[in-house]
Amino acid sequence: MAKKIGRIGILTGGGDCPGLNAVIRAVTKAALSGRLEVVGIEDGYLGLIEDRHRPLGYLDVSGILTVGGTILGSCNKADPAKYAVPDGKGGWVLRDVRDQVVEHYHQAGLEALVVIGGDGTMSGAAKLVERGLKIVGVPKTIDNDLWGTEITFGHDTAVTTAAEALDKVHTTASSHHRVMVVELMGRYAGWLALHAGVASGADVILMPEIPFSMEKVIAKCLERHRRGRGFTIIAAGEGAARVGGERIVDKIVESSPDPIRLGGIAKYVATQIEETANLESRAIVLGHVQRGGAPTPHDRVLATAFGYHAFELLMAERFGRMVVQQNGRIDSIPIADVAGKVRIVPPDYPLIAAARAVGTCFGD
Ligand code: F6P
Repeated sequence: MAKKIGRIGILTGGGDCPGLNAVIRAVTKAALSGRLEVVGIEDGYLGLIEDRHRPLGYLDVSGILTVGGTILGSCNKADPAKYAVPDGKGGWVLRDVRDQVVEHYHQAGLEALVVIGGDGTMSGAAKLVERGLKIVGVPKTIDNDLWGTEITFGHDTAVTTAAEALDKVHTTASSHHRVMVVELMGRYAGWLALHAGVASGADVILMPEIPFSMEKVIAKCLERHRRGRGFTIIAAGEGAARVGGERIVDKIVESSPDPIRLGGIAKYVATQIEETANLESRAIVLGHVQRGGAPTPHDRVLATAFGYHAFELLMAERFGRMVVQQNGRIDSIPIADVAGKVRIVPPDYPLIAAARAVGTCFGD
């Protein structure tokens, strides 16, 4: 293969997830074999804004395939087009620092850049492509909500972690005859709640795409108690909301271009059930545990395939594209097509019907 570019950068942006290191390893090893130089940008776009980077050699990426997190660090608050800086009055103001990023990119001698991230990172990439940077995107997120790809690495690991937690909650729920409401991440998409819920046989799955009625959820719990199953497991996606109700917000991160952090649905549902139905209930928030740990073999394989395809796109000089999986095949689409969109669970997703058929309640 003829060498057209000689020095590439690589960064990981947004919330971390298992499999990021596997992509860094795949891209770097393939590039080094092709005699390219590889530069690791630290902490996502923040490293480009602050001019922080280091060379990556074979030893830097050796042994990291199975390691969670990212050796480069990440940041979900540094969109170069909307970078929050203190306003001097205790608040924040958003600035466009793309000129600075372009300058640092050239100063580092980069001829192309691989960005591994979710929708925020891809939106940032699209706005840097407009400024002439040669970028290839690789999709990641435990939420599986990136538009254009049917799967992202990190999701399978998070589903595995969440399903294991739900399995463990099962035994204590049964012992104490309780309702256990387990809150799962996923933002505005219910992929994680649905997949983990089905995998662990949750009795109720609450997800953002299906607004729920509290009365129906309570009726399901009472019915299980009447039938002698004296406990109920509820898997609740953090973005789930009652019919006509609002999503529950945990906090606003003012320095983030995407400031809303969801959270609190488990506590809300557990309290409602206890107060209305007099069934002892507990809320469990799984939180960032879902983003941690070693990637599953599935995610290692997907991340390696995605990373290698990103390298192929670089070599073919097909910039401004994001690697995707569509109909089981690895391909790519323009990054600009992805920016600002969210892939939610469609109403006709077959697993929903399968779950209903085995008695799962969605609260609708
Ligand atoms: O997008 C990944 C994710 O873990 C979401 O599921 C969750 O809502 C969010 O990030 C949490 O963000 P933070 O790490 O800023 O708390």
